[in-house]
Amino acid sequence: MLKHIPPWIHKGYEHLLTQEVKSAPIPRHVAIIMDGNRRYARKLGQMASFGHIKGADITEKVIEWSCELGIEHLTIYAFSTENFSRPNAEKDKLFELIGLKFDEIGENERTHERRMRVHAIGDIDKLPDMLQESIKNVELVTSGYDRFNLNVAIAYGGRQEIVQAVREIAMMVEKGEIELNNINEDTISNHLYPVGGSALPDVDLIIRTGGDERVSNFLPWQANGNECASYFCAPFWPEFRKIDFLRSIRVYQARVEERKQHATVRAAHFLKALGKAEISEVKHAPLTENAHNRITD
Ligand code: FPP
Ligand code: MG
Repeated sequence: MLKHIPPWIHKGYEHLLTQEVKSAPIPRHVAIIMDGNRRYARKLGQMASFGHIKGADITEKVIEWSCELGIEHLTIYAFSTENFSRPNAEKDKLFELIGLKFDEIGENERTHERRMRVHAIGDIDKLPDMLQESIKNVELVTSGYDRFNLNVAIAYGGRQEIVQAVREIAMMVEKGEIELNNINEDTISNHLYPVGGSALPDVDLIIRTGGDERVSNFLPWQANGNECASYFCAPFWPEFRKIDFLRSIRVYQARVEERKQHATVRAAHFLKALGKAEISEVKHAPLTENAHNRITD
């Protein structure tokens, strides 16, 4: 609908939305499934690589918007383990493009102004040597930064990530480095692909473009496990606009508000219930950690 309105109205709306979004909590970690590059290219009668090139331009814009809003982690799905089954010609061009983007990021002065740290997460060994070199280089060049983290999931599969973590932990058990009973959620988190030596933080918002409403083996532990907000939208990735991004942040903010309201209602019910209880019962029944968690859930 907004596509057909004059650009100045579009800009005005974008500005208003930006101000609104900035006045509410900003997600710490946003993850994006950038889908629809080839369909976009096909729609314009172009080759798949055209769609990926246009898609990479949008990725750069999203980095800029994320920095502007104060998001700390942006994790993008650049290449899944399933994508290895694509035609060699497409893969070669895509790997070349991603390598080029890493090189540009390493050389771009905005990377340094933004204090942007770059990490690749995935089965990096499966990638062509040239791309592995570009990854190593951009990770090294940005290793001193910490204001904004760009995490690129490449040769990544969520289940494989968990399998690999389980293998590492099993090995530690075998060597007697950890007790079976001491394995907890943190143990698993700490053995998933790390960023800057630490576990990737829980995802607060996951976005998928291109019309499909599924999360395709992307960060199942960090996103699904955290019951993060999700935003599915129809535009193909190269068509993704700032207002789509801002709307996705609004969905996250609505979710935060909903949780707050829910906690307030629960607390009010709890206080009401307390009022009905005998004073002596209340006095002698200290709030257990469990009960506390339930009312603030
Ligand atoms: C999904 O669309 C997109 C990809 C598999 C590649 C995404 C990669 C980039 C945009 C490069 C960005 C990289 C950096 C480091 C800036 P698709 O190919 O599945 O398209 P379809 O859903 O229409 O088939
Ligand atoms: Mg796709």
